[in-house]
Amino acid sequence: MPSDYDALKSKLEAHGQAHLLYFRDRLTDSERNSLIADIAEINVEESLEHFQQAMLAESQNDTKPLDSSMEPVPQDICGSASESSPEELESLENRGLRLMAEGKVATLLLAGGQGTRLGVVYPKGMYDIGLPSHKSLYQLQAERILRLQILAEELTGQKATIPWYIMTSEHTREPTIQFLSDRNYFGLDPMQVLVFEQGMMVCFSPEGKILLETPSRLARAPDGNGGLFRALRDSGIIDDMEKRGLVYVHVYGVDNVLVRPADPIFVGYCDEKGAECAAKVVHKALPREAVGVICLVDGKYNVVEYSELTTEKAEQRGPDGRLTYCLGSICNHIFSVPFLKRISGSKKDGLKYHIARKSIPVADPDTGESKAPSKPNGIKIEKFVFDAFPLAKTFACWEVRREDEFSPLKNRPGESADTPKTARQALLSFHQRLIAAQGGIIVDEDGHPISPEDAIVEISPLVSYRGEGLTPLVEGQRLRSPLQLNPTVNHSKKLADSDLFLPPEETVH
Ligand code: UTP
Repeated sequence: MPSDYDALKSKLEAHGQAHLLYFRDRLTDSERNSLIADIAEINVEESLEHFQQAMLAESQNDTKPLDSSMEPVPQDICGSASESSPEELESLENRGLRLMAEGKVATLLLAGGQGTRLGVVYPKGMYDIGLPSHKSLYQLQAERILRLQILAEELTGQKATIPWYIMTSEHTREPTIQFLSDRNYFGLDPMQVLVFEQGMMVCFSPEGKILLETPSRLARAPDGNGGLFRALRDSGIIDDMEKRGLVYVHVYGVDNVLVRPADPIFVGYCDEKGAECAAKVVHKALPREAVGVICLVDGKYNVVEYSELTTEKAEQRGPDGRLTYCLGSICNHIFSVPFLKRISGSKKDGLKYHIARKSIPVADPDTGESKAPSKPNGIKIEKFVFDAFPLAKTFACWEVRREDEFSPLKNRPGESADTPKTARQALLSFHQRLIAAQGGIIVDEDGHPISPEDAIVEISPLVSYRGEGLTPLVEGQRLRSPLQLNPTVNHSKKLADSDLFLPPEETVH
């Protein structure tokens, strides 16, 4: 065996990781070389340090309730869509659209997750939730960006380009690029779509042993959506943002079917408040809802996860009856470019690691075959994007109506919440409400008005981003369900039941 192999063996032994060479006698020369190269790629010492830090942080969370250090976010940095007048919303929106026309706003999609709960082998953004149009999540987002560019140009007379950065990971990068390019970026200029890749972290056993996915490869997983900051630096994307003269970047998760990429109202609010970091939030539905809340911890902006919240804090209410800690974080943030630059500027971004117990495919000791057990067998360590909040000097929260802006696709069909069906219904119902608000009446085949729950209405984002421009199309009209409002023709198309009720979860188009 070569001497570099011996050196590696001693190093691994010194760190209690000699098991990584367990299969060595069963490997071919080329497999052995690839294992050595794989191990050489990681800094074993640093990886173990991260594991220990994450375990320590978890045990501290368990033992040290945050109660005494928590405070609600000050009212003066919290705005609300439902409490703002139409004039206020329009003014914020125009402010955001002007910034877009000036080329100061980009949007950044976090699409590096493995989507294990949804359980498909392709990136979640490619998922077809079974809308009448069968548009994927990626397509809905791309078309919303296109529509915003038009709105910004209509307002200012200036052509607007909103760059769309997409953070992918080892598993999602290639299929995402292929999917978008095969579909001509859904009408966006390919130069405005920038796909980059986040880093990976090795996975561990609960005892801190690095896992082998196959006899010759370590088990790795993306380093969490907080890997964004490292990826911005390593991929040079932060330089691209500066070169383009961007000021604000709207960062959001791939799975919210109602997401408004680069929402000009949110951008306008963030700009008005002079915030370098802002979070879009929804009001928590129930005290124990499994969503992180935004608050101050030791005077710094933070997201406290539901598992870290004591019952007392979760149920605390103010004099108006509102939950004191009600600002539910929905993975929807704005960061200024100087802020992103500051956080991603140094190798140590200051973000802590978290533990996620998952079912991780590992090599069977007898056969070497890679198998994922049905129960969690290992630990992934991840960073969360919101852990950058405490580093913000200025902050703002913008509260929106959940039913208008938040319906995530997390789980596979048949689960109780956040499934393709709930996402589809949320979007159809939002569109039905937009039509009703503009005086349109949805009717059945016989021309009889139908209940909102039964109406199937899909409005192309190319027609309307949040309801604008619909009045001349629908006011006073009787529109037959199922209805698709598309940019060139407004037509009603009869769909098969299978289109409507059975999401083709395994198909992508
Ligand atoms: P989730 O926490 O829902 O994780 O990600 P996930 O990996 O998509 O799904 P599960 O937990 O395996 O079922 C929230 C957002 O953060 C992104 C996801 O793509 C999603 O938009 N994300 C997550 C990343 O970009 N990178 C990661 O490493 C993890």
